Amino acid sequence: MSQKKIDKDNLPKHVAVIMDGNGRWAKKKGLRREFGHKAGRKAVKKIIESCVELNIKHLTLYAFSVENWNRPKIEIDLLMQLLLLSLKDELNNLNKNNIKFNTIGDIGKMPKKIFDYLIKVKKETKNNTKLTLTLALSYGGRNEIIDAVRNISMKVKNNIISLKKIDESVINDHLYTRHYPDVDLLIRTSGEKRISNFLLWQIAYAELYFTAKLWPDFNKKDLFKAIISYQNRERRFGKTSEQIK
Ligand code: IPE
Ligand code: IPE
Ligand code: MG
Repeated sequence: MSQKKIDKDNLPKHVAVIMDGNGRWAKKKGLRREFGHKAGRKAVKKIIESCVELNIKHLTLYAFSVENWNRPKIEIDLLMQLLLLSLKDELNNLNKNNIKFNTIGDIGKMPKKIFDYLIKVKKETKNNTKLTLTLALSYGGRNEIIDAVRNISMKVKNNIISLKKIDESVINDHLYTRHYPDVDLLIRTSGEKRISNFLLWQIAYAELYFTAKLWPDFNKKDLFKAIISYQNRERRFGKTSEQIK
């Protein structure tokens, strides 16, 4: 029988979300895309609160991909402005709720003002322990792998790592997400069923959950639904069903 309530003993350790559909949400309402992004901010707040409530330890949100730099400048500027506003608004809340803030991606590409603020928020929340909230910003999964390959190659060249010692854990230790558990549950909103260059290595065995809900409409109930769906699946990791039971 499938369970209908969240089982607190079987929570995903790491939830990752591709927050998609802001533009379509606005368009459906006859509004400009910027209103979708603004509404999306509220959904972000709700999801963070729900993860705290549920005691989920890692939440990683795809907020801006490397590919998103190809959008019209006016939209990029707006997204950056909204990001700065959110960071300023939320710093106190992050500390109040014991949330550690982190980013993955090439934030050196972000405007200096934002870069500095990101560093500030990371520094001022670094001792928090309830939830690690990670924003993927200027993030690309392939870039992350390229960076790891470069760093590992350098260490091999300098005899810090021997070629024979390169294994999964060495790769893990050179990703932006080092020290994070693998993604257990990956959620994508807006009905698209693709990964869009997100956490390519880390989702190797993630359970995927796609919903047609557009990101600004995604709420606590939807998160609960995704988690219940996750909990109703049998994660076999290559084994047989009998071996799991
Ligand atoms: C997701 O919404 C937010 C970002 C990618 C920054 P979109 O802006 O991609 O919305 P759609 O996909 O056009 O509806
Ligand atoms: C993925 O959404 C990136 C983020 C949610 C930040 P996109 O809307 O950019 O993805 P594609 O290009 O449609 O795959
Ligand atoms: Mg999109």
